[in-house]
Amino acid sequence: MASSHQILLLLTYGLLFMSTILVTCIDAATSIGAGSVPKRLVRKLIHRNSVKSPMYNSVHTDFDRAKFAFEDSISRVAMIEAKMVSCKGNMSCSDKIQANLHAKAWVGVFFVEFYIKDLSHRMLAVMDTGSPLLWVHCIPCPNCAQASTRIYDPSTSSTYTNISCRSKYCQALRQNSCDQRGNCKYELHYEGAHPTEGMLATESFIFDTSDDGLLTVPHLVFGCSHVSDEKPDAVMGVLGLSSNKVSLATRLGNKFSYCVGGIKDPSYEYNQLILGEGAILEGDSTPLEIYNGFYYVTMEGISLGGAMLDIEQNTFQRTDSGQGGVMIDSGGELSFLVQRAYEELADAIMNMLDLNSWFKSELYFSKLCFEGNVTRDIKGFPSVTFHFSGGAEMGLEAESLFSQSTTTTFCMTILQADYGQPSLIGVGAQQYHNVGYDISGKKLYLRRMDCELLDE
Ligand SMILES: *[C@@H]1O[C@H](CO)[C@@H](O)[C@H](O)[C@H]1NC(C)=O
Ligand SMILES: *[C@@H]1O[C@H](CO)[C@@H](O)[C@H](O)[C@H]1NC(C)=O
Ligand SMILES: *[C@@H]1O[C@H](CO)[C@@H](O)[C@H](O)[C@H]1NC(C)=O
Repeated sequence: MASSHQILLLLTYGLLFMSTILVTCIDAATSIGAGSVPKRLVRKLIHRNSVKSPMYNSVHTDFDRAKFAFEDSISRVAMIEAKMVSCKGNMSCSDKIQANLHAKAWVGVFFVEFYIKDLSHRMLAVMDTGSPLLWVHCIPCPNCAQASTRIYDPSTSSTYTNISCRSKYCQALRQNSCDQRGNCKYELHYEGAHPTEGMLATESFIFDTSDDGLLTVPHLVFGCSHVSDEKPDAVMGVLGLSSNKVSLATRLGNKFSYCVGGIKDPSYEYNQLILGEGAILEGDSTPLEIYNGFYYVTMEGISLGGAMLDIEQNTFQRTDSGQGGVMIDSGGELSFLVQRAYEELADAIMNMLDLNSWFKSELYFSKLCFEGNVTRDIKGFPSVTFHFSGGAEMGLEAESLFSQSTTTTFCMTILQADYGQPSLIGVGAQQYHNVGYDISGKKLYLRRMDCELLDE
């Protein structure tokens, strides 16, 4: 039975949460004597191919990495589609996902480091703006025997608290249930993603701040995963930044931003995520809509080298039944455009590049591959710009638009979305931009930026 004591505690957490954060910030800043500049909750984003990533492998070639980016982006789409279908409770839709796309589970693009409970539990989790929940592997963990990092054990933590089934946090999760004691259990099972199940709970999390300090955020809601088919190694969970009552983004002040610099250079170290008050909401903005837990924007057109392509605006609209639309995503590298827009863009690009260099791709998902070297052969290739309502823009230079797939070939990193799927703006397209999410103000801020400048 959930004690009234527990419920009271939860209520108190709910009501006092924001002031707790505030007090924690002030305390921390005061203790370090950093003056009046508020600390930012900044996390370096570790690209999966970065030298800092546990997935880094120095023998991997450009081709290996490009192939992985293509495959993982496809898994990502399968996952999104499955989630949208499950949202509607229409399982027959899932037939559309081709069987061969399931071969691999989605990995994600960026990892974020933080600590749970204390500094002896370092965590690396996948950043995902399409997931509602922060979850990590917990003991008991059936597949954790060979994990290289220390796994968090809730039974030894005095700051761990199960959340009651009756709490609003439990009810905010679509797939929840109660154990015999009235504690909330969660489940997340999506196509193309590792399933996770466990207890919905609260615990202290520790994040680094912009001034090399540490900020403890007490009583953060998270999923303590006890069931997963994944063998966790160094990557221990998912940092969900979608918007609902349990999401970290919502609980840390309804805003966050990330800056994506380079993703091709394994030594680049300025990609970063800022949570809460210090989030950078700068540049032009466009309305941000949250639908089925995903972030959508209103695209109005695409231009190549300053000339608008002939695509009707309604091509990008989401239908009443939820098909189409344009999603901004952080979980996949490649972008996808609905057929009409894709064809128009592909034609325009084919017209600009030497058709003789076109070849049938080994990266079976991309239809547009060419002989050559991105950095050398298409210098000055006109940029492709996505235009959003309200005037915000996202410009893709050659390095964002094409990816070197072998030593002698490169492919376009925008693919065609399947019928009914949304267009998807992947991380590759967001390179060299700061992207700010103002959830309560329902605005997305885009600014071209050198992320290195944020690092002072
Ligand atoms: C469910 O999916 C099927 C197949 O895609 C479709 O024909 C049907 O209209 C959908 N039903 C609902 C209620 O969305
Ligand atoms: C949380 O719930 C689980 C599952 O019922 C239980 O095993 C565990 O002892 C609980 N932990 C606390 C601190 O109440
Ligand atoms: C592409 O060209 C650049 C600049 O000339 C060179 O540094 C790079 O090694 C080339 N890449 C490949 C895969 O040959």
